[in-house]
Amino acid sequence: MEKSIDQIYQEALKAIETAAGPKDVRSASVRYLGRKGILTQFLRNISSLPVEERPTAGQKGNEIKKKLEKAFNEALVKSEASTKDLEDHIDVSLPGRPVSCGSLHPITQINQEICDIFLNMGFEIAEGPEVELDYYNFEALNFPKNHPARDMQDTFFISDKIVLRTHTSPLQIRTMEKQAPPVRIIMPGKVFRCDSDLTHTPMFHQVEGLLVDENVSFGDLKGTLTAFVHQMFDVQTSLRFRPSFFPFTEPSAEVDILCVICRGKGCRVCSQTGWLEILGSGMVHPALYENVGYDAIRYTGFAFGMGVERIAMLKYGIDDIRKFFENDMRFLSQF
Ligand code: FA5
Ligand code: MG
Repeated sequence: MEKSIDQIYQEALKAIETAAGPKDVRSASVRYLGRKGILTQFLRNISSLPVEERPTAGQKGNEIKKKLEKAFNEALVKSEASTKDLEDHIDVSLPGRPVSCGSLHPITQINQEICDIFLNMGFEIAEGPEVELDYYNFEALNFPKNHPARDMQDTFFISDKIVLRTHTSPLQIRTMEKQAPPVRIIMPGKVFRCDSDLTHTPMFHQVEGLLVDENVSFGDLKGTLTAFVHQMFDVQTSLRFRPSFFPFTEPSAEVDILCVICRGKGCRVCSQTGWLEILGSGMVHPALYENVGYDAIRYTGFAFGMGVERIAMLKYGIDDIRKFFENDMRFLSQF
């Protein structure tokens, strides 16, 4: 035995200390602890020592072997983590890991698009309560008490006098009560009806529009809504004004656009008609002016109310309105 076990231990520690990187640590570890390593040799040679020296030499040798194994492991972890070493392993040309990022719900996006088109035409935005008085939802809009027209919309009643608004039209009254003509506003919001199928949900979104001034004609209504449809879809989109009835407009018209699912051939989404209704509209009924104190001789105006989900379905070619409310990420992440 030319070297004592202490000497071997000290030299091994020095080798760890002076190692320049994980490579050095590994080779020093092999040099001392490997199969033919210095310490391994030492332990093997114990059997050739005098009998009385063997137990102490063996005990000490194993102790030092354990200490060195631990020291080498720690040194390896430390040197692998060192910046210099990391730089050797980082491939700066690799593309970064994509961070998945949320986006606005398609209905929110379409709602904003609709509002933007009218804001650009000079309309302003107004909002109002979702829990509404019967007075604003029906009565002031010329739905007389017990009139069958109230059945046009299946209402959720909170009490005799309070309802979940069935449309955004109550905001016509609320706006005109607050402000003298000229009025040019749009009113986006949630509305509620007891209704559910392929094209109806119990909660949906409407954007209401109201323009009141002197000399406003049905031609202005037609021009405004045609310009809107052409901007929302494209200038080639076919639309039709179909005579209709609302207690708060006279005359009234509903606007349909050609069904984008079947291109007018007839399918289950358009109930085989080839057309899909997107909005109701008409000239403001003089009875409303009386309810809010406007001069019904001097002023005329038009109003419209459109379904945001309907427009989103047509724009994206979606055949079931309920998909917007299921919150399936595979569906939502396409927008
Ligand atoms: C109204 O709600 C009238 N307030 C519209 C109006 C405003 C007329 C101003 C005149 C002047 P209607 O019930 O047809 O009308 O609904 C308007 C639009 O909302 C429909 O064209 C349709 O696009 C959409 N809509 C109606 N019910 C539902 C429903 N359950 N789910 C989804 N969209 C619906
Ligand atoms: Mg309708």
